[in-house]
Amino acid sequence: MTPARRGPSSARGALPSGTSGGTAPSGAPGAGPVGHLRGARVSLRPPAPEDLPLLFRWLNDPDAIAPWDRFEVDSFESLQNALRDAPGDPLSLAPRFLLRRASDDRPIGVVGYFNSYTALDTVDVWYAICLPEERGKGYGSEAVQLLADYVFSHRNVERVGATSDVENPASWKLLERLGFRREGTLRRALFHHGGWHDVAIYGLTREEWRTLRHPDRKGLREPAKS
Ligand SMILES: CC(C)(COP(=O)(O)OP(=O)(O)OC[C@H]1O[C@@H](n2cnc3c(N)ncnc32)[C@H](O)[C@@H]1OP(=O)(O)O)[C@@H](O)C(=O)NCCC(=O)NCCS
Repeated sequence: MTPARRGPSSARGALPSGTSGGTAPSGAPGAGPVGHLRGARVSLRPPAPEDLPLLFRWLNDPDAIAPWDRFEVDSFESLQNALRDAPGDPLSLAPRFLLRRASDDRPIGVVGYFNSYTALDTVDVWYAICLPEERGKGYGSEAVQLLADYVFSHRNVERVGATSDVENPASWKLLERLGFRREGTLRRALFHHGGWHDVAIYGLTREEWRTLRHPDRKGLREPAKS
């Protein structure tokens, strides 16, 4: 599930500002610079100031960002402030990475992560391929794999989570392909597009992630090719 709002009023912050390298695991989930992440078919990098117009357009386009989520319009200024004020806020719902197609560097989506429960030590990921024509080609799976790898490598958590509208198979199938397990259902937890929706909770433990990331990648299916 993508967070319902991403501007500073709800995002409480922040887009990480680092653009290279990465950090050793920090004590607490959330803070710290982020770098560029590269996969075979997609790459992720923190949004830069020049990405603001594109992000603003996407984040205010229900078809791009929220076909399965609540949708509220943010102002350009609020997004700009989120970019400015963002670094280091573990609760921020703002995009953490711009997702690009590796073949031509074209931006195709955004992903993020945030401390999902203030009283728990767990980080949730969210994701959107913002160009509808680029969905269903395996880019989302690879991006979320990179993102989960990043969170487990840079945050001191034993679990990465995600939520998905139960009626959004592209989202929950993506999670299941990557080894996330469905842990339960929040009934009638989200109102969007005129109705109340059930939301599935997914989680991947560090131990499961280690097993899946073993060189033989037992149990991990490769993303579909476009
Ligand atoms: C959800 C989303 C990020 C998935 O990324 P993607 O690149 O389209 O997905 P992938 O091509 O990696 O496929 C992931 C799985 O979903 C399946 N899938 C993809 N599109 C689907 C669709 N429209 N209907 C049903 N299943 C679909 C794929 O077959 C694959 O499952 P499999 O491993 O069993 O074959 C993308 O579709 C999207 O951005 N949707 C709109 C925003 C959104 O819903 N974000 C998530 C909110 S919870």
